[in-house]
Amino acid sequence: MSAPFRNEPLLELRRASVRDELRGALAALDARLPLEVPVAIGGERRHAPVLDSVDPGRPERVVARATVATGADVDAAVAIAAQAVGAWRDAPAGERAAVLARAAGELRGRRRELAALCVREVGKPWPEADADVAEAIDFLEFYGRQAVALEARAELEQLPGERNTLRHRGRGVAAVIAPWNFPLAIATGMTAAALAAGNAALLKPAEQSPGCALALAQALERAGLPAGLFALLPGAGEVGAALVRHPGVHTIAFTGSGAVGLEIVERAARVAPGQRHLKRVVAEMGGKNCTLVDRDADLDDAVPALLASAFGYAGQKCSATARALVHERLHAPLLERLRGALDTLSVGPADDFASDLGPLIEADARDRVEGALRDAAAAGARVDRTVGELPDDGWFVAPAVVAGAPADGAVVRAELFGPVLSVEPVRGMEEACDRVDEQSYALTGGLFSRDPRTIELVSRRTPVGNLYVNRGTTGAMVARQPFGGNRLSGTGTKAGGPDYLLQFIEPVVICENT
Ligand code: NAD
Ligand code: ALA
Repeated sequence: MSAPFRNEPLLELRRASVRDELRGALAALDARLPLEVPVAIGGERRHAPVLDSVDPGRPERVVARATVATGADVDAAVAIAAQAVGAWRDAPAGERAAVLARAAGELRGRRRELAALCVREVGKPWPEADADVAEAIDFLEFYGRQAVALEARAELEQLPGERNTLRHRGRGVAAVIAPWNFPLAIATGMTAAALAAGNAALLKPAEQSPGCALALAQALERAGLPAGLFALLPGAGEVGAALVRHPGVHTIAFTGSGAVGLEIVERAARVAPGQRHLKRVVAEMGGKNCTLVDRDADLDDAVPALLASAFGYAGQKCSATARALVHERLHAPLLERLRGALDTLSVGPADDFASDLGPLIEADARDRVEGALRDAAAAGARVDRTVGELPDDGWFVAPAVVAGAPADGAVVRAELFGPVLSVEPVRGMEEACDRVDEQSYALTGGLFSRDPRTIELVSRRTPVGNLYVNRGTTGAMVARQPFGGNRLSGTGTKAGGPDYLLQFIEPVVICENT
């Protein structure tokens, strides 16, 4: 654990041998489908699979069949975790970090298989699927080291005759409620942080991706995490809601939509009879992210970055760019180039290395995106789409560049979570900043400009949590770009950053007269 943290290297997908290995891993996985995902509590497993996750590119393929956690399962998981957590909380941080490092090793050993699982279960194209697994490994390695560093932090003033000590103690039982779009990375990140800081973690994975969550459960078990400190509680939103209500839960780590996040914040504020603590909510929510393009921007940089930010993983990243706010002098040429670039994009099965975009996660998502585009066109917007054939099966959507969308319509206002880029002219960067500032979302932002004064202006005026200059808005790396939004995009704590663990900590000061 003394080695400094390094991001897990990505696989070299341009090599034919690596692609062959991945195809082999996918074929082996396919032969084992559907995976069976139990409720797992305290080393016991309960099997009654009823909830299917399916391949969004071929919905008749069932990827995982999960048992749904009941209210009794939630009660049991909390009770067992409450018993187990004391010893774990009091153990040296180095011991906890060692377990997490071994879990990282378990994931590393299954790297190709798990990338294949992300491809199948949530329709991630290979590069993003590989990055998801690498990020999960990063979180386990990083938070373990952060816990050790936190334990060593001695930042209090000392006087003769007085010894002051600050201890960072785990808060207790954490409920981890995860989304499907980073099915391994985000579930692992929130879980690893809770455990590293000396808590128990009860994971409610997204109903669309229980198979990926099972891989985390297996890694923690094989790494020797003491029984009871982790539970796998698959199911739909009701299981998450039961955890949020439970008086034995101390911290709720949630990543997902704004609507659900706000409900959790409100619900968690109520103190149940017999509850002797306030619940803390870490909520990372949605975005409607803007990239600003100033008159001095280099379009050779801006166009590929916008395409990757808006259409990577078919726009299903909270960090995706949904609006380009473009200086009026560059608006027409940029639009022209983006429209031209649409035809270079290939929409197809996620397991095909030639696909730039895979499917959307489910039929509702496709209908939401198509409906918003129809409404924008009906209101007079010009909507350009990729013209190639879409696969017959699955929930595929052709990426769209929209100009002239109504300012109060869904294409400009709502988080569509699909491959839609609204391109809007502005008179200058002050006006662009005003438009960003009108929004209640404040997750990521982008800027293309080489002028240091513009960079300073936009850094100062935009409220976003992560601002990227002269690059795309997606792909934050653990430890390098700690990630999280402000305003209604989140509580502002940065995942993968030095302060994240503090959310899972109860600080205690001991002052001893010596
Ligand atoms: P979602 O809010 O629908 O679901 C997230 C999780 O909450 C799931 O496990 C779900 O079952 C659970 N849930 C649903 N209702 C609940 C309730 N009433 N109480 C407790 N839990 C409940 O989100 P999603 O569709 O899985 O993910 C997409 C959303 O997540 C997008 O809005 C995206 O922007 C956001 N997201 C944000 C970040 C970030 O870091 N800010 C990262 C990834 C995704
Ligand atoms: N952390 C993810 C990204 O930056 C959401 O794209």
